[in-house]
Amino acid sequence: MKNQLTIGLFGFGCVGTGLYEVLNKTTLLQASIKHIVIKDLSKKRIIDSSYFSTDSNRILQDDEINVVVELINDSEAAYEIVTTALRAGKHVVSANKKLIAYHLNELVSLAKENNVSFLYEASVGGSIPIIRNLEEYYNNDSLSNISGIVNGTTNYILTKTAEGESFDEALKNAQDLGFAELDPTSDVDGFDAKYKLVLLLKHAFGFTTKQDAVWNYGIRQLKDWDARYAREKGLKIKLLAFGTRINNQIVGFVAPHIIPNNHFAFNVENEFNAVVVEALFSDKQLFLGKGAGSHPTASAVLSDISALQFDYAYEYKKSKTEEHLSFDSDYSLKVYLSATSQEKLDQITFIETHETYTGQSHSYKIGIISYEEISKQDWNNAPDYFLAVIPDSIQLTKNTDISTEKSAHLIEELS
Ligand SMILES: NC(=O)c1ccc[n+]([C@@H]2O[C@H](COP(=O)([O-])OP(=O)(O)OC[C@H]3O[C@@H](n4cnc5c(N)ncnc54)[C@H](OP(=O)(O)O)[C@@H]3O)[C@@H](O)[C@H]2O)c1
Repeated sequence: MKNQLTIGLFGFGCVGTGLYEVLNKTTLLQASIKHIVIKDLSKKRIIDSSYFSTDSNRILQDDEINVVVELINDSEAAYEIVTTALRAGKHVVSANKKLIAYHLNELVSLAKENNVSFLYEASVGGSIPIIRNLEEYYNNDSLSNISGIVNGTTNYILTKTAEGESFDEALKNAQDLGFAELDPTSDVDGFDAKYKLVLLLKHAFGFTTKQDAVWNYGIRQLKDWDARYAREKGLKIKLLAFGTRINNQIVGFVAPHIIPNNHFAFNVENEFNAVVVEALFSDKQLFLGKGAGSHPTASAVLSDISALQFDYAYEYKKSKTEEHLSFDSDYSLKVYLSATSQEKLDQITFIETHETYTGQSHSYKIGIISYEEISKQDWNNAPDYFLAVIPDSIQLTKNTDISTEKSAHLIEELS
């Protein structure tokens, strides 16, 4: 039996307006928006002003409203809205990855205590249906890897730098087109991708991590010579959120990767997102779609609302193994590291060097570096350097055979 859904909507910007439009074009869904709370009543809206107020209680204290859809751009205000709504026994749908990454356990507990659902498909990968697939489709398949391009702004910038634009030009164009915020820190320094990775790790491996524990390095320090190096070698630089499970260890980080043309992310361009899931039985599967935008993002919100008709809630089934898992920072990686001088380059200690170049404007090195060495620098604020990870190069420092370890844990988990 389908539930009748009466929605209170917070936010009527890019995604909120998109939700109103897609709901209007959806005939099968028994859902209607009763009231919309926004910040600035003087703004012109595409629908009648009687829908709007700035008073949260018009939604939160209305017993007829059984679903709160939170689509605002302020994660602190969103925390108050979402927690109050859950306590009031209302289902909540949100797209706010920062809010959720910071408060996941608390919000999940609140939803459980109040016997309501808290859904957030749109918070990772925009239109890509990844969270519910991780929850439901891979229920009986054991995941070993999840990685992806989960930030459309940086992917747009990297598409342009690969074509020869400088980072600054590409960022300015992204801002002019509305893809990037005036303060682009969250996107270009990899914070936005990290919030999404925290959610992916939870649903892929059942692992909760504090977002502070995850290394996020973005693309702010990318130089023309790095983009040129990649172009000349037939490679591309992409910002990837990366997570892997090796036995009971989880490794996860956000960093630029320098990838060959057979890598899944090579042809994922502009604002598109892509996530690859690797599991024991299904092997590698690629999810590709628009990671942002009004209607694509609203489509994921719509799907959550639709799921509420049937009382859907995430069960966090994989979390039952959580107590055995720990976050591992004891690993090494193969990287490309460029620096504005040989002297600067020599300040970073490599375990092995595979290739070096010393030039007048810059120098670079390719080789193996420990995460311990990486963690000594605040790379987002180190303008003399640019670092990119070479894929599939992680070695746990304990010198384990990763492929054997992975199969062992997967088989053990399923037996
Ligand atoms: N845009 C995307 O493509 C995209 C993709 C994935 C996820 N998301 C997430 O979706 C959410 C909404 O993003 P958006 O792009 O739609 O943002 P947006 O276009 O900037 O719109 C934000 C809306 O929130 C309202 N608002 C701000 N503070 C408020 C408060 N305290 N109380 C009530 N309303 C408030 C604003 O009101 P006024 O209209 O009065 O200013 C505006 O309507 C964010 O969490 C974002 O991270 C967005």
